Amino acid sequence: MLARLEQIGIVPVVVMDDDAHALDLADALVAGGLPVAEITLRTAASMRAIERMSARGDILVGAGTVLSAEQVDRAVDAGASFVVSPGYSASVVDRCRHHGVAVLPGIATATELQAALVNGLDRVKFFPAGKLGGRPMIETLAEPFPAVRFMPSGGVRPENVADYLASPAVFAAGGSWMATRQLIADGGFDEIVRLCRESAQIVAG
Ligand code: 3PG
Repeated sequence: MLARLEQIGIVPVVVMDDDAHALDLADALVAGGLPVAEITLRTAASMRAIERMSARGDILVGAGTVLSAEQVDRAVDAGASFVVSPGYSASVVDRCRHHGVAVLPGIATATELQAALVNGLDRVKFFPAGKLGGRPMIETLAEPFPAVRFMPSGGVRPENVADYLASPAVFAAGGSWMATRQLIADGGFDEIVRLCRESAQIVAG
């Protein structure tokens, strides 16, 4: 699962207000060359959106902003095949392991990173990447933890994503710029395809 995320390179972070848009969004992400979505559990529509998108089978669907073991259960039940959280929670990680789904907890400090390592993880989300110091901070954190690799998210944009991805410590990057809440709500799916293509080209180098 995480190898597939690494291959795609960029993970769209999605806030969906209406699951009626789920299939159009999936079409746009697939057409744009980024067949993956982290659907954040920040809205009432999110679980239904995960259900509708994961049922297609042509796109990797994960749940984001997962804060509790109970949300892990519901997300997995809805079809999520990976789980992302903004911070480190041992109960979220343990529950993901119980279900056999990949988990990317967020870390912002060496202390949180150690907690993740002790729990057997070597892939984490670095959030909020921009505010925490971006690529230089990731590389500083990676020095004592060479086996760990990061998915920066928060402030990643078309103008800095290539730099993040060029770091050996980075395995993928997350962001909302190619499928913003507003674009989805407004039905701007052609624009989403265009922005995804642009992003996929950055990954391809
Ligand atoms: C996340 O949860 O990773 C962020 O909300 C994505 O941040 P962005 O909107 O700055 O891309």
